[in-house]
Amino acid sequence: MSDDKKLGDRVRIPARGPQSSGDLYDRFLSSDDRGIFKWHHYFDVYERHLARFRGSPVRVLEIGVKNGGSLSLWSEYFGDAATIVGLDIQPRSMVHDGMRPNISVRIGDQADPRFLARVENEFGPFEVVIDDGGHSARQQINSFNFLYPRMTPRGIYICEDTHTSYWPRYADAGPGVTMIEHTKKLVDHLHEPYFDEGKSMQRFSVGPDQRAGDLLATRFAAETFSVQFYDSIVVFERRPRSEPYREQR
Ligand SMILES: C[S@@+](CC[C@H](N)C(=O)[O-])C[C@H]1O[C@@H](n2cnc3c(N)ncnc32)[C@H](O)[C@@H]1O
Repeated sequence: MSDDKKLGDRVRIPARGPQSSGDLYDRFLSSDDRGIFKWHHYFDVYERHLARFRGSPVRVLEIGVKNGGSLSLWSEYFGDAATIVGLDIQPRSMVHDGMRPNISVRIGDQADPRFLARVENEFGPFEVVIDDGGHSARQQINSFNFLYPRMTPRGIYICEDTHTSYWPRYADAGPGVTMIEHTKKLVDHLHEPYFDEGKSMQRFSVGPDQRAGDLLATRFAAETFSVQFYDSIVVFERRPRSEPYREQR
């Protein structure tokens, strides 16, 4: 038995290997009009988090329209009951507005909260947001900070191409400010209720009915169930949280 494995060992990542599987990936692979611009390994992430919305009247916002291919893909995948909204800074993306009955496009800057507010007022609240826009720190963080608290309580927020957090060209929000760093801090906030060990263990070890007063936390902590990091994607899973409760049975 080998006991010399270390996490920091330099090992080979195969060039040819599985990327994704599932219906959405198959649709991507069978599309040949060069209108969709996605990394192959993203499709497993989409399938994992988005499959439950298929066939429902889900409201989906995708930031970044480009050739409109991903909007068609989402429309096919989620079905006719879905509302698919794309936004892009390039006015030419408007040609995709109404390309299917359930697809709309609006033009503006994803980093501008006033524009996002107009889109949100017109089409929201969104169950699903996919940020595949300009990928700069300011764009990713501004869009997330504005849209996330305005989503439905069990929505999914996906920010793509977070590898740009490591590329200086995308660092337009100040030194060290990136979507990955922003998300890491939010992971700390998930644990807010436990920051004070004494107080939290006292409170959470008695039944909810015996606790005095309210537990206050940031809106993020109160409304987030999980934060998941993948290669170049972060996913935020919304769900209203209850106070923690630890019990020995
Ligand atoms: C990667 S492409 C989108 C690809 C598309 N989602 C797909 O899968 O085929 C990125 C798009 O984001 C748009 N974009 C860049 N900066 C933006 C901004 N500040 N606000 C909104 N859209 C932006 C670009 O014009 C471009 O069309």
